Amino acid sequence: MKKELIGKLFPLLDRIFRSIDKKHIKRTRNIRLIPGIKYRRGGKLSYAEWAHVAGIFQTILYQNLENKTANNILDIGCGTGLLGISSEPFVAEGGSYTGLDVIKSSIAFCNRHFDLPDYSFIHFDVSNPTYASTQSSSLKPWPVEDESKDMVTALSVWTHLNEKDAIFYFQEIYRVLKKGGKAVVTFFYLDENYHLSLPKRSNESGRFHSTNQNRWIFEAKAYGSDNWYTPKWTKNPEDAIGITPEGLKILLNNSKLKLIKYYPGNWKESPGAFFQDILIFEK
Ligand SMILES: C[S@@+](CC[C@H](N)C(=O)[O-])C[C@H]1O[C@@H](n2cnc3c(N)ncnc32)[C@H](O)[C@@H]1O
Repeated sequence: MKKELIGKLFPLLDRIFRSIDKKHIKRTRNIRLIPGIKYRRGGKLSYAEWAHVAGIFQTILYQNLENKTANNILDIGCGTGLLGISSEPFVAEGGSYTGLDVIKSSIAFCNRHFDLPDYSFIHFDVSNPTYASTQSSSLKPWPVEDESKDMVTALSVWTHLNEKDAIFYFQEIYRVLKKGGKAVVTFFYLDENYHLSLPKRSNESGRFHSTNQNRWIFEAKAYGSDNWYTPKWTKNPEDAIGITPEGLKILLNNSKLKLIKYYPGNWKESPGAFFQDILIFEK
């Protein structure tokens, strides 16, 4: 079928499918909140992939939350609310979910879509060259009270922050977490497993294949940093950023957060819990 025709048919089929499928949801109430294709962003387009990723992160949240209900969760770079779906069971009985993002239209969508009393969304008016290039480029604290959150989440956000932003906003995680609170942050973590995966991606002449998987080769320094890297294809480094173990040490030393768990991602050509690496931190 022609690409153009599929482009037109997919949103229609998606709408019909979701309205029928919703009636068949029996044991996973929160996936009723998966939006239509136009609003499925964050590098994940398919309905099935959203449901899959929402489920993975529901499990990760469950494993890392001390109490299973009444949690106050802050989701940085919430996009169109994927982790709002994963969080729903854990904010019940008196907790809250707050999504924060630099894209105004995503926040407007979330405010319309998540008509839930304990949910709120904040447009954060700072720039990111990839997502909000015209906003103010200064670093600003989040409009969130000190020590008010049980958990901070950031799915595919530190993979779009340069060194300066990454360090500053990592300190913000520390500031807003309660003592003992956890943060779930995904990275392209350029550790030993990443370096071991590189030969699998190159052909005999040592040149990299141009398959989709090989998009994730972090060869160029992001703004000259020794520890924040970007692939050669990016227009702005913020299109995709990976950090070295030394970079992670810099984040930890500057924030006082402790790294307590690491779920390696399958982007490094070995089976993983998720595509990116998931790192869990504790205050
Ligand atoms: C790849 S998307 C992920 C969205 C969402 N977490 C998901 O997985 O569907 C990255 C998100 O981070 C947001 N973002 C980028 N820089 C940010 C910043 N400094 N503060 C808050 N959000 C930011 C972008 O606007 C975008 O929505």
